[in-house]
Amino acid sequence: MAEQLNEYQGKATMEKITSLAKRRGFVFQSSEIYGGQNGAWDYGPLGIELKNRIAGAWWKEMTQLNDDIVGLDAAILMHPRTWEASGHVENFTDPLVDCKKCKARFRADMIPEENLAAKKCPECGGELTDTRKFNLMFKTHIGPAEDTASIIYLRPETAQGIYVNYKNIIQSNRMKIPFGIAQIGKAFRNEIVTKNFIFRTCEFEQMEMQFFVKPGSDDEWFNEWRKRRWAYYGKLGVKMDHLRWHQHGPDELAHYAKDAYDIEYLFPMGWRELEGVHNRTNYDLNRHTQFSGKDMQYIDQDNNNERYIPYIIETSAGLTRNVLMILCDAYDEEQVADKGNDDDWRTVLRFHPSLAPVTVAVLPLMKKDGLAELAQDIRRELKEDFAADYDQAGAIGRRYRRQDEAGTPFCVTVDYQSKDDGTVTLRFRDSMEQIRVPKAELAARLRQEIKEYKRTK
Ligand code: GAP
Repeated sequence: MAEQLNEYQGKATMEKITSLAKRRGFVFQSSEIYGGQNGAWDYGPLGIELKNRIAGAWWKEMTQLNDDIVGLDAAILMHPRTWEASGHVENFTDPLVDCKKCKARFRADMIPEENLAAKKCPECGGELTDTRKFNLMFKTHIGPAEDTASIIYLRPETAQGIYVNYKNIIQSNRMKIPFGIAQIGKAFRNEIVTKNFIFRTCEFEQMEMQFFVKPGSDDEWFNEWRKRRWAYYGKLGVKMDHLRWHQHGPDELAHYAKDAYDIEYLFPMGWRELEGVHNRTNYDLNRHTQFSGKDMQYIDQDNNNERYIPYIIETSAGLTRNVLMILCDAYDEEQVADKGNDDDWRTVLRFHPSLAPVTVAVLPLMKKDGLAELAQDIRRELKEDFAADYDQAGAIGRRYRRQDEAGTPFCVTVDYQSKDDGTVTLRFRDSMEQIRVPKAELAARLRQEIKEYKRTK
């Protein structure tokens, strides 16, 4: 056991992350009892807490800390003309090939060029079909008639809900350019290849912010948003040497983009896109003007009613992909003893305390002699301000390990001394250091520790 762990020491693999996620109730495969649904995942008790906290951190960063950004929650189902205007009906496609022999399906841009040129299946050597375009939007029907007039799409990005509302928001909230609109919500893509756990899925969530600027100031704002989005991950305590920029080359640029950079993260399977910062120009608003017949110009009342279609700088992050990144980033295995036992090693998720699903766990050393009751009282008090867990099952060492594996940054242990002098043991997840703290000071101490947290390992 120790040898096996030693091989991977400190190294997250996708298998370990997936298995820990299931074991501890972060993420389960969708409809598992029926063999699972490809491209869909369910977030369990710890997973939904983690996802909510990541979404909360992003929301705070974008709206609360920015005077000129407001929020929106637009519907998933939008008028189908939206997607003609946005270019998704025409352009949101992947090149697809099938193997006639083994029936495997590939994205043509993901198989070796020689296989594509020779039309040879990379798995069985069978003959491949011609490449055809496959639209990634999920299509369904609204209303009782399943005809072309009733076609409706599940949105493939949240951005369009913002564009079609931008004039409503200017009018209702008296916004002046430059300003932004932020949104978190589900998006759907009929992905041909879904692998690597929750990295690329058919149903996922995005955290997108669209910033409306005067044409000509777009390059400046684009650089400004690149800086801000980079700094944000530092605030979350992410390993900054696991992040890098990737600028889109001419072949990669989306149909709407003038310039685009991805923030990539070093996942166990390699560097992959985490978030995109895009200069979408005035493409979307021009197209919505054209397709809806509505005037999408901004009227600058502070500047002689100058009229223009704003440019848009977009920051677009995957929320569910951020969950995977935070899990990978936090994952660690550490040797804590050398006795040749299984428990010489611990698996620990080093979440930033503000993201951890459980902030503090209260553990009575024994169930008897009133210690359990005292611990329950402490937990009840802490619960008002923190996500507080309670665990009295098993040896204290095992309980610490369980909390380490869930990423709980603080444990409070109640022992006989607590009954005598009102102090408890505060144990820190990362260092495993233990100190005594008067229970009356616990909440203030935890608040301070969360605020001043610096990742050391
Ligand atoms: N509105 C622009 C847009 O949607 P994108 O690069 O296609 O741009 C933005 O997507 C982000 O959404 C990506 O950086 C990624 O984090 C996330 N994302 C995209 N497709 C995804 C999928 N199939 N599964 C999970 N996350 C996805």
